[in-house]
Amino acid sequence: MTYIFHQKDGILVQQTGINNMSNYIIIGAQWGDEGKGKISNLLSEDVDMVVRYQGGANAGHTIVTNGKKIVLHSIPSGILTNNCKNIIANGCVIEIESLAAEIENLKNERIDVSPENLIISNRTHIVTPFHKLLDKISGAKVGTTGKGIGPCYVDKIRRTGIRMESIADNSFEQKYLEQIEYYKNEIKEHFFKDFDIKGSIEKQKKAASILKPYINDTQNLIYNASQENKNILFEGAQGTFLDIDHGTYPFVTSSNTTIGGAFCGTGVFIEFHKRIGIMKAYTTRVGNGPFPTEQNNKIGEILRQKGGEYGATTGRPRRCGWLDLYQLKSSVIANGFNYFAITKLDCLDDFDLIYAGIDRDKDGNPVYKEFNGWKSDITNIKAFEELPLNCKKYIDFIETYLKVPAGIISVGQDKNQTIIKNKYKD
Ligand code: IMP
Repeated sequence: MTYIFHQKDGILVQQTGINNMSNYIIIGAQWGDEGKGKISNLLSEDVDMVVRYQGGANAGHTIVTNGKKIVLHSIPSGILTNNCKNIIANGCVIEIESLAAEIENLKNERIDVSPENLIISNRTHIVTPFHKLLDKISGAKVGTTGKGIGPCYVDKIRRTGIRMESIADNSFEQKYLEQIEYYKNEIKEHFFKDFDIKGSIEKQKKAASILKPYINDTQNLIYNASQENKNILFEGAQGTFLDIDHGTYPFVTSSNTTIGGAFCGTGVFIEFHKRIGIMKAYTTRVGNGPFPTEQNNKIGEILRQKGGEYGATTGRPRRCGWLDLYQLKSSVIANGFNYFAITKLDCLDDFDLIYAGIDRDKDGNPVYKEFNGWKSDITNIKAFEELPLNCKKYIDFIETYLKVPAGIISVGQDKNQTIIKNKYKD
């Protein structure tokens, strides 16, 4: 089946009447921070529902719209689109105080948030302040975001977690008290002594009461939407190489960031027509762990400055390096991408020479291909044909090497700094 798109103000818009249903999934193809927020916000204009299915407040989607910067941690980016339902599905984990604050912040920005357009699964697990304390103790080796993600998923897997349904059926306070009792014996004294139990319970209860109206069964909501031929966007968090099974273990997050996470994380079997891998034109990672094409030198510093490579959640400087196509092959295998969105291409504007890892030598070190730089500002270019020749050659090589077409190319933070390259085929 062929899908037809046209460009409106530089934005991808699906022509109505050509096909009446299209499900998209967007997944970070590298180590997260690929710019999923912008692409997801762009595509959400064309969908009826946006679903988050894994991860928690460790994610940070930065969206720039009309020059205004909005950072979303747990709420799907469709919240910025009128008439779009946003689902936080069962595979996610929620820090209830921060989610309640995120809702308030959006409301302060005059963005409409209500149980009509934001629905939280009753099966979603709650990240408690104790999980965050535990993360501080145990997360340093991995370099976690400190958001309590790992410890919360530990509780989920060992069947001692607290789910959002406990807020709906008023058993949350009791369950939280039981958890405090349990962790009292486990958390080291010096971490625990400053913890204000009573204050924490009050804050948690307040957040719980704000979130209560948003809790529902999301499995049926998603299923029904798919049965009604609605367009749905599934929004992955983090990136492929942070996947608990397929990433650079143990330097990973605690959920399945690859495509399979979307099935378990929603409880719905669905056909993803467009499987979009979001990749930066270079590579970054935060936290510890292997990074073969890392440039811990002046090149890395230039990329960091040019790309504003500081974590949206933690503010940590990101490690930067060249694109690693060799590694990206595994990302294509894991996720079945049928097109890419290449982001931050403009961050390579100033380089005389650009490199991409295309192989490994016998010691496992990257073998690079060298590209001539284009040495010009591409941030205002709106069509692929208008890009400098060397820039087009770089993109062509990526497509040929990975055997996946680039559908979207991002040349700046703003929504209108986007090039739609291909008309997509399924
Ligand atoms: P955690 O998810 O906080 O447990 O952190 C585990 C690893 O995943 C660390 O290396 C984090 O820096 C990384 N990580 C978690 N969330 C993100 C993200 O949204 N972008 C990039 N890296 C992330």
